[in-house]
Amino acid sequence: MSQAYAVTAEFYDLLQATEHLAVTGRLLDRWLGQPAVGVLDVGAGTGLATNLLARRCTVTVHAVEPAASMRAVLLSRLAGQTGVLPRVRVHARNVQDLGLVGVADFGWCLNTMAGLDLAERAAALRALAEALVPGGRLVVQRPPSRAVADRRDLPSWQLGGDLYSGEVATTPVGADRIRWRFSYRVSRKGALVRQESEVFDGHLATVSGFDAELATAGFTPVGTDDPDIVVVQR
Ligand SMILES: C[S@@+](CC[C@H](N)C(=O)[O-])C[C@H]1O[C@@H](n2cnc3c(N)ncnc32)[C@H](O)[C@@H]1O
Repeated sequence: MSQAYAVTAEFYDLLQATEHLAVTGRLLDRWLGQPAVGVLDVGAGTGLATNLLARRCTVTVHAVEPAASMRAVLLSRLAGQTGVLPRVRVHARNVQDLGLVGVADFGWCLNTMAGLDLAERAAALRALAEALVPGGRLVVQRPPSRAVADRRDLPSWQLGGDLYSGEVATTPVGADRIRWRFSYRVSRKGALVRQESEVFDGHLATVSGFDAELATAGFTPVGTDDPDIVVVQR
């Protein structure tokens, strides 16, 4: 079986970072505050938010990322940033297995819960509650609440005369699952040079259901934001 994100890691930043950083910056302006204990970046991916968090904070940022391909990009992003490196600790494991206690007063988890099933989400939220100190804030993106067949283009970019583009096709799977097929293309003068794709399976959760999961893990609501963000307090 192929490793998750083995294909996507190559294209993630080029195609998606610009949009992603705009959202991340806006959300951090509103919700980050001034962490005094530590910060969790869960499902850190290529480290787009990790880097921003480490630049904005004076405390340790715990970047939790199980996929080696994504960690490789994350570490490359941090390489040589001597001002930031001492403050980022990378945990190469699933959040369910984090095993940290009271290390942070701010947690961040975007675009990651959708990949976890109900039992995995429960374990993840328990681990997050353990890792946060009482009063700690968690900014988390909800899993999707419904699946609708869809196709959308990712932003495309010119690189040395080549066009890098991508699309994501969404397919409902049964009553409570969803599948995303990401296709990436490199073309030159209109001709396809190469094409890659990767499939991700996700799990649906209703808004009230996910709120109940957060409550069970010991979180109380603080607010909401876009896109599908819920902010809670431990
Ligand atoms: C779609 S990417 C999002 C990355 C980043 N949060 C962002 O918004 O750009 C989801 C990331 O979550 C990671 N991930 C998947 N399952 C995870 C788990 N159980 N615990 C922590 N991270 C996980 C994946 O390896 C991947 O890097």
